[in-house]
Amino acid sequence: MRLIRSALAVLVLASAACSPAGEDAPKPVRSTGKAAVGGPFRLVDQTGAVRDESLLKGRWTAMFFGFTYCPDVCPTTLQTLAEVKEQLGPQGKDLQIVLVSVDPERDTPEALKAYLANDAFPDGVVGLTGAPAQVAQALKAYRVYAKKTGEGPDYLVDHSTAIYLIDPKGEFDRPIISTRAPEEIAADIRKAMRDA
Ligand code: NI
Repeated sequence: MRLIRSALAVLVLASAACSPAGEDAPKPVRSTGKAAVGGPFRLVDQTGAVRDESLLKGRWTAMFFGFTYCPDVCPTTLQTLAEVKEQLGPQGKDLQIVLVSVDPERDTPEALKAYLANDAFPDGVVGLTGAPAQVAQALKAYRVYAKKTGEGPDYLVDHSTAIYLIDPKGEFDRPIISTRAPEEIAADIRKAMRDA
């Protein structure tokens, strides 16, 4: 069991991308179970409303971490999740999608709002950002790796790419590899919902 849990933690932590420079994966952190991922946060959504961890209660949530300037992984993940929602049918309508910014400097609520309006992305995505310290606290709670790379206004942020599946109690259920096919991700989520 301990091995499985450690493997889970490594999976969550090791998938970093979104920067051509590519940073080394962070050191694996020994996890003591599901409770080790997640925790309180206080951020603002794309309308400027304050949101905390209660956002994650009452329905299944696919949460991931990224930024609006991300050239590849984040927009692809959002398009994938749009397909996943369709594949899930009625269960998909209930699946909440949350994008937490790893780039609070540029990702203002307004920037998130404009970004998430893209027709290729799912409807109703909740974009979260906030003061850098608040964002850093949320990233730490979810053991997310994020590191600025490059100089000047066109910097990138190397970041974890896993999708975190959160159960209706607001607790971390399992990580999902964001680059898998939508039908595989939908199958994973269906299984999680069935097993819960
Ligand atoms: Ni990204």
